[in-house]
Amino acid sequence: MATDSPCIVIGDEERGYDLDLFCIPKHYASDLERVYIPHGLILDRTERLARDIMRDMGGHHIVALCVLKGGYKFFADLLDYIKALNRNSDRSIPMTVDFIRLKSYCNDQSTGEIKVIGGDDLSTLTGKVCDIIDTGKTMKTLLQLLKQYNPKMVKVVSLLVKRTERSVGYRPDFIGFEVPDIFVVGYALDYNEYFRDLNHICVISEKGKEKYKE
Ligand code: HPA
Ligand code: MG
Repeated sequence: MATDSPCIVIGDEERGYDLDLFCIPKHYASDLERVYIPHGLILDRTERLARDIMRDMGGHHIVALCVLKGGYKFFADLLDYIKALNRNSDRSIPMTVDFIRLKSYCNDQSTGEIKVIGGDDLSTLTGKVCDIIDTGKTMKTLLQLLKQYNPKMVKVVSLLVKRTERSVGYRPDFIGFEVPDIFVVGYALDYNEYFRDLNHICVISEKGKEKYKE
């Protein structure tokens, strides 16, 4: 596992951007505070991650495992960039896809209980894509589970890693952004299933938290 995964570090003082500077779905206009990571920046960073991943895979067949639901946008965009590299370079790596579903959050708090649903071809696993590493507990549990299938190699790619005192010290092999310990939504990240249909990664407002509370 990489001990040092270079990434874009977003400082504690970073406030993001005013919502009025971007296009936001009208149904979420009063449920959000700020745009935190604009969609374009997510894609630009993802393009580079695709290159770094391909450089490190050394010609192995990749089973790309998407951790649903929060990872689906990042997964799809990352694979698109990897496919473009495969089409346009002398070296290309065959890839199959699989999906696993995890659930541990209710409102903006972890329930501590992790439910795993799905996944069929885990024995040939060589790669994994997820949306966010918060405390790292979920990922540690999942890696433990994957061990049973004796994968040749497991590399974890996460779009976001949170700086939090609650961290168990887990760091993925590839990271998009390191962010402060705030709850973010959008780009498939949810608050009780809402906000997945938002392009940018945003900070939810108190009003939004209240409106979609369970
Ligand atoms: N947003 C959405 N889901 C999450 C987060 C977050 O900030 N942290 C852990 N799961
Ligand atoms: Mg969630």
